[in-house]
Amino acid sequence: MKITNICCIGAGYVGGPTMAVIAKHNPDIKVTVVDMNAARIAAWNDSDVNNIPIYEPGLSDIVAETRGRNLFFSTDVDQAIFDAEMIFISVNTPTKTYGKGKGMASDLKYIELCARQIAHVAKDDKIVIEKSTLPVRTAQTIKSILKHTGNGVQYQILSNPEFLAEGTAIRDLENPDRVLIGGDHNEEGQKAIDALVKIYEAWIPKEKILTTNVWSSELSKLTANAFLAQRVSSINAISELCEVTGADVTEVARSIGMDSRIGSKFLQASVGFGGSCFQKDILNLVYIAKSYGLTEVADYWEQVIIMNDYQKTRFAHNIIRTLYNTVSGKKIAFLGWAFKKDTNDTRESAAIYVADILLNEQAELMVLDPKVDKETIYADLDYLKTRAPEENRKLVDVSSDPYEVCKDAHAVTILTEWDEFNTYDWQKIFDNMKKPAFVFDGRNLLDAIKMKEIGFMYESIGVR
Ligand code: NAD
Ligand code: UGA
Repeated sequence: MKITNICCIGAGYVGGPTMAVIAKHNPDIKVTVVDMNAARIAAWNDSDVNNIPIYEPGLSDIVAETRGRNLFFSTDVDQAIFDAEMIFISVNTPTKTYGKGKGMASDLKYIELCARQIAHVAKDDKIVIEKSTLPVRTAQTIKSILKHTGNGVQYQILSNPEFLAEGTAIRDLENPDRVLIGGDHNEEGQKAIDALVKIYEAWIPKEKILTTNVWSSELSKLTANAFLAQRVSSINAISELCEVTGADVTEVARSIGMDSRIGSKFLQASVGFGGSCFQKDILNLVYIAKSYGLTEVADYWEQVIIMNDYQKTRFAHNIIRTLYNTVSGKKIAFLGWAFKKDTNDTRESAAIYVADILLNEQAELMVLDPKVDKETIYADLDYLKTRAPEENRKLVDVSSDPYEVCKDAHAVTILTEWDEFNTYDWQKIFDNMKKPAFVFDGRNLLDAIKMKEIGFMYESIGVR
C-alpha cells in the first residue's frame, strides 16, 4: 500500500514537528496538519517562519523548506480526514480535572472526538494512528467507535507513540533511538504496519523500527516516561542526602553513571522535573494500576511524583529559610520560566510552583525567560487560582534585561538551564544587588567557585 496523503489532527508540540520531519523526508506525500485552534494554525501559516507557534531549534528551517510544498496547516479538519489514507491523532491527553479519576486519569475526550469525527467523515478505508500518549487499551475504544458507523469503511488502528523531548525535538525526530509501531498481528494489520514502516524508512534505519502488538506499544510509552522521570526523582532524593552529609550530587551522579548498567543520562539533579508529560503519564500509570487493583504497583510509581513535588517545595522553602525566614516585600529575580531550556513550553514548569510558594509569602518577583512572554507567565500563575489575577500582576513583573531583573534583588534563582545565563556579567549583577547577595541555582548551572569568588552566597542542589 503506497501512502500519498497523510492528515495529522493536532498541530501542537508533537503534531507540528513530527509532521514537518515526515514531510521533509517524504516529498511525494502530502501532509496536512489540522487543528481546531484557528490562532495556532494561523501562526503555523505566518509568512515569517520565525513566528510559528512552537520554538524548537531547527524547526523553522524545516517548515520553511516544506510548507506549501507538501506540508500544509489547516483548520478544515473534515476535508483533511476525507482526503487522507493515513490519519495521525496527535491531540492533547491532559490529566482529568473533573469527575471519576480527577487528578489522575487521562482525559480522553479529545481522542474520542477525533474518532467520532473520523467515523462521521470517512468514506473510504483509513489507517488511524495513535500518536498521542494513551492509556493501555485505548485502541479498543477507538476501534469500537469506528466499527459502528455501518458504512462499510474499514479501519486499521496502529499505536505509534512519540519519544521526542522538547528542546531537542528535531534532533530526536531525525535520529531517534527507535520508532515504535504497534498493530494487529493479522494480514490487514501487517499491511498497515508496513505502510507506516515505509514512511519512517525514508530516513530511519530499518533495525531501529520496532513492531509490537498494540497494547505493548501503548504501555511502552507510559513505561518509558515513568522510568525517565523515576531517574530524576531518584537523583533528587539523593541530592538532599548530599546536602546533609557533605557528599556532592554531581560527583555521585558521575560515579554511578559510569556503571554501564546505570548509564549517565537523566541524572542531573534539579529543582524538579516539569513538562506536560512526566507527571501526567505517571499519574495515568498509577490510575491504571489502581483500576486493576494493583495497589503496590500504583504506590511504587506514585512515589516518583511525591518526590518531585517535595523537591520543588523544598527548593522554595530553602529560599525563605535562608533569607532569614521572610521574603515579604523582598525582590527575588527569577531566571528561567520554561520547564527546560530551548523550549517556550511552560507546562508544569517547576518555576510556577516555586513562584507560587514565594508569592504566598508576599515576595516580589521579576522574571526573565528568553522564550516565554509575559502573558504566558501571568496565565500560568492565574491558572493555579491561588490569588486574584490583579495580585499576580502586582507582585510579578517581567523583563528581558538581566541587569534590570536582578537590580536591587535580595536573591537570584535559576529555574531553567538556559545557556545564556552563563554569559551574564555576574560581577555587574552582584554589584547592583542587595547584600548579602544570594543565588539559588536550581539547575547547578553556574560555576560555584566563580560565583563565591565574586562574593555571592551561592547555593545549588545537592551540594552543601
Ligand atoms: P498540544 O496541546 O501542544 O497540542 C495538541 C493540539 O491538539 C492542540 O493544538 C489542540 O487544539 C488540538 N486538538 C485537540 N482536540 C482536537 C480536535 N478534536 N480536533 C482538532 N484539533 C484538536 O499537545 P502536545 O504537547 O503536542 O501533545 C500531544 C500528545 O502527544 C499528548 O498525548 C502528549 O502526551 C504526547 N506527547 C507529547 C510530547 C511533548 O514533548 N509535548 C512528546 C511525546 C508525546
Ligand atoms: C520527555 C521524554 O524525555 C521524552 O522522551 C517524551 O517523549 C516526552 O517526555 C513526552 O512524552 O512528552 P520532555 O518532557 O520534553 O521529554 O523533556 P525531558 O528532557 O525529558 O525533561 C523533562 C523534565 O525533567 C525537565 O523539566 C527537565 O529539566 C527535567 N530533567 C531531565 C531533570 O531535572 N534532570 C535530568 O537529568 C533530566
